[in-house]
Amino acid sequence: MSWMSVEAAAAALIAGRTVAFPTETVYGLGGDARNAEAVQAIFNAKGRPSDNPLIVHVESMEAAIAIAMELNVIELELMQRFWPGALTIVLPVRRGVLAAEVTAGLDTVGIRVPSHPVALELLRTCKLPIAAPSANRSGKPSPTTAQHVQDDLGARIAGVIDGGACDVGLESTVVRVVNGKIHILRPGGVTIEQLLAHGYEAIYVRELEDSASVPRSPGVKYTHYAPQAEMEVWIGQHGFNIGLAELLKNECMAFQGDGQRIACLLFQDTFQTVGELKNVRMFSLGDRNQPENAAHDLYAFLRTCDQEGITRIIAEGCTEEGAGLAFMNRLLKASGHRMRLV
Ligand code: TXA
Ligand code: MG
Repeated sequence: MSWMSVEAAAAALIAGRTVAFPTETVYGLGGDARNAEAVQAIFNAKGRPSDNPLIVHVESMEAAIAIAMELNVIELELMQRFWPGALTIVLPVRRGVLAAEVTAGLDTVGIRVPSHPVALELLRTCKLPIAAPSANRSGKPSPTTAQHVQDDLGARIAGVIDGGACDVGLESTVVRVVNGKIHILRPGGVTIEQLLAHGYEAIYVRELEDSASVPRSPGVKYTHYAPQAEMEVWIGQHGFNIGLAELLKNECMAFQGDGQRIACLLFQDTFQTVGELKNVRMFSLGDRNQPENAAHDLYAFLRTCDQEGITRIIAEGCTEEGAGLAFMNRLLKASGHRMRLV
């Protein structure tokens, strides 16, 4: 694998190869969405199950309309209001425009226009719709730096464009408009509050994650974002409190007796109260009232824990407001939904 310029990456995509590139959410592993072999190469490089469809990235609303059909007013407004940006809209797909592998046999496709200048430049240079899931090995935390991509996919892909660390740090919000209502299939960079602020009806269809009813996001049934360590999410029922800090100290000491290597991911107020604990790796998630910081750093922290051989992680949860909804969604998935109310 090599570090690539936008021009070299565009040429590789046109030649049917796969390249990773930065977006404002996470790094994507791109391939020509019309080319079945290129799309298959994405699934292979990631080790991704073939029934989990890919998001298609385009440079403009017009390019999206060339792929999707039967758009309603709300869908068009969402494009105008939130693109370029971290909103993926699931739409009926025109037949024969994309390789069938992209949609995993569904009659819909998730599309977005990314806002990262490098991603936009790449789309404008190659003039292709780019199918791109997150550029991690399947099941690992998504990559938020080019080095993360290199660590996971190294020799498996043609190259990566280094665009620095991603702004948002976790994936886009996946929505589908159903009977005039916005269903959030996966919470992400665009918050439910932002959608509601425009006067839309929007709901997070959490219950669909476990039911067989459609529409749902096929990806939600797979294990995701998991670090190697056992992880438990602590949910302070009253936000920060002194008791939580005491409990944490005791718990860390107990685990250390068992020879575990422990890491704690804590909001700044808890972090400061607990202070340094001997032989415990401490990460600050920032201000609990600004969960976008925690969302930004989560995947990078989990990767650091893997590199440092951490065997046990205690992570603090927060309320599901604003960016807190997507943060908690990823945190709970990473922990296999192991949580403790404290
Ligand atoms: O921020 C992002 O969305 C990143 C960057 C690279 O754009 N991409 C990303 O792709 O996260 P991926 O493949 O890791 O996640 C795509 C999600 C999956 O949960 C998938 O099931 C869902 O979108 N999805 C894709 N097409 C769908 C469809 N037609 N209907 C329902 N869900 C769909
Ligand atoms: Mg992914």
